[in-house]
Amino acid sequence: MTLTTTAALVGAAYEAGRGVAAFNAINLETVEAIAAGAETANVPVIVQISENAVRYHGGLAPLAQAAIAVASNAAMPISLHLDHATDERLVGIAVDLGFSSVMYDASQLAYEENLTRTAAVARRCHDRGAHVEAELGEVGGKAGVHAPGVRTDPDEAAAFVAATGVDALAVAVGSSHKMTTRDAALDETLIAELRRTVPVPLVLHGSSGVSDEGLRSAIAAGMTKINIATQLNKAFTAAVRETLAADPSLVDQRRYLGAGRDAMAAEAARLLTVISTR
Ligand code: G3H
Ligand code: ZN
Repeated sequence: MTLTTTAALVGAAYEAGRGVAAFNAINLETVEAIAAGAETANVPVIVQISENAVRYHGGLAPLAQAAIAVASNAAMPISLHLDHATDERLVGIAVDLGFSSVMYDASQLAYEENLTRTAAVARRCHDRGAHVEAELGEVGGKAGVHAPGVRTDPDEAAAFVAATGVDALAVAVGSSHKMTTRDAALDETLIAELRRTVPVPLVLHGSSGVSDEGLRSAIAAGMTKINIATQLNKAFTAAVRETLAADPSLVDQRRYLGAGRDAMAAEAARLLTVISTR
């Protein structure tokens, strides 16, 4: 169908009180899996590429151009988002390549520094029509904003959004990145308070650690953009492992990468249905 914008997908979900999934892609197969999952679920999706994935490839352009090509020919609307960027130059490169949104992550910096830098990035992105997600960090915190014990203060978050002009805010409500079990306990009272206090869509990072039921309640309480990477990697890798174990003489990469892609597409479709259904 079409490459769309993150602003359109997040805006529509926010208005409707639904969630919108943002899935991380790290190579062509994972982009294809996300597009196939969206087609099966009949639900639009955000494909996000992180600064870590860019580092892995030594640059953004090859994977970004592949993702744009897949999205442009996909059955469902797909937007492209740069995830967890700390390098301001990379933000500019992503916008040049056609990404409609970026997450500028200055959460490791002290509050004032985070605010100043984020406001400058937001101004530059808005001048070019791109949507900006930011994150509030814990001052001096080592584990970062998404460690289980860290919480975002609603008044500070509202002041941060007003001062920076960001379009979406990643908040700390009990999730933690890279969990391989789905037993994180989210603070739904805090989510509801943030939803009332902060005038932009809220983003849940580390959503792999949250159960289906937890995702539904978090969305009902006020979360909009739901970021998932590890849960999809788990599905992909398990299928690759199983395929290789079943045939030790296998050498054709398409056999195991294809199995990984199919398994990830099925899990993406399942999660899309959980996240987008009210
Ligand atoms: O920004 C991406 C995510 O927050 C994904 O986290 O790997 O724990 O699902 P996850
Ligand atoms: Zn994240």
